[in-house]
Amino acid sequence: MNNYKIDGFDYCELYVSNAKQAAHFYHTALGFYPIAYCGLETGSRDRVSYVLKQNQIRFVLTSPLNNDSEISEHILNHGDGVKDVSFTVNDAEAAWKESTERGAKSIREPQLLSDDRGETIIATIEAFGDTNHTFIQRDNYKGVFLPGYVVFENNLIADPTGLIHIDHVVGNQPNGEMQTVCNFYEKVFGWHRFWTVDDKDISTEFSALRSIVMANENEKIKMPINEPAKGLRKSQIQEFIDYYNSPGIQHIAMSTKDIIDTVSKLRNKGVQFLNTPDSYYENLSERIGDIDENLDQIKDLGILIDKDENGYMLQIFTQPLQDRPTLFYEIIQRKGSNSFGKGNFKALFESIENEQKNRGNL
Ligand code: FE2
Repeated sequence: MNNYKIDGFDYCELYVSNAKQAAHFYHTALGFYPIAYCGLETGSRDRVSYVLKQNQIRFVLTSPLNNDSEISEHILNHGDGVKDVSFTVNDAEAAWKESTERGAKSIREPQLLSDDRGETIIATIEAFGDTNHTFIQRDNYKGVFLPGYVVFENNLIADPTGLIHIDHVVGNQPNGEMQTVCNFYEKVFGWHRFWTVDDKDISTEFSALRSIVMANENEKIKMPINEPAKGLRKSQIQEFIDYYNSPGIQHIAMSTKDIIDTVSKLRNKGVQFLNTPDSYYENLSERIGDIDENLDQIKDLGILIDKDENGYMLQIFTQPLQDRPTLFYEIIQRKGSNSFGKGNFKALFESIENEQKNRGNL
């Protein structure tokens, strides 16, 4: 039992080489709206951050303003990537104290931040690799994001794509590290194993992976932890590790209530998705049974479907969001199913392997 409660994902912060341009992409392509900013104009001397929001999802895009900072070092080592997966908690001090007492490394001790809109308490621990978890206690804060940020003044038009909340965030580990990281989440946070797959479930002729989904008590936080498994050729997880140079966040899954509408909008805005082989749809009806959606539209958009005993789910994966084959996004609509798409892995892997082949990395 913990002496604090996690209410959900608070934000994901990415360290990127050009936050101004990345913010433009998150707005025009993904349908997020820039709500807050900090930078030279607000007294931030070493970094600039844009906060973008859509429904319950918040991204913080941060770039360094000089060379000798941990941000520029992070970008040098990893390229653009996720630095922090933060959680909203009811007691940030208790979260930090319990986590560090149970073995987590402290990155930032609990700190009270305040401005004329109220106060927040934040604290940070190390998760894996250079990725952190920040605890945010914001119940006494009325401002746009956090103290230190101002409203992002602009005349942009909001054009949301129907993304609602973060369903799960996935961490890739080097071979042999998956269990260690899951044990860390069990010990430090008291999380449980929600779902697992091994390489017998997820393998194609060439590549394979193992995955364990870790979840917190109320299961609002789900973090699948992957590692490569031995295949004939290089696993996609190993490709990630090779280009990220360490463990890190592989993908963030965002939910929608209408995946056909959301994926149509994203495709119209230029977001590129993994191709689904035509063969995937050949016996889909027998495998899935009746669904509410129009199968022709599903096929046109390349959406994948899987089911379990509780219902079905629809999902699709973007191409990597930067030139390195590292971070990508998943769009997911759950219709009863809590699955992570085991039945889709084979079809999906064949598609990913095609992309890997095009990059000369298979
Ligand atoms: Fe996923």
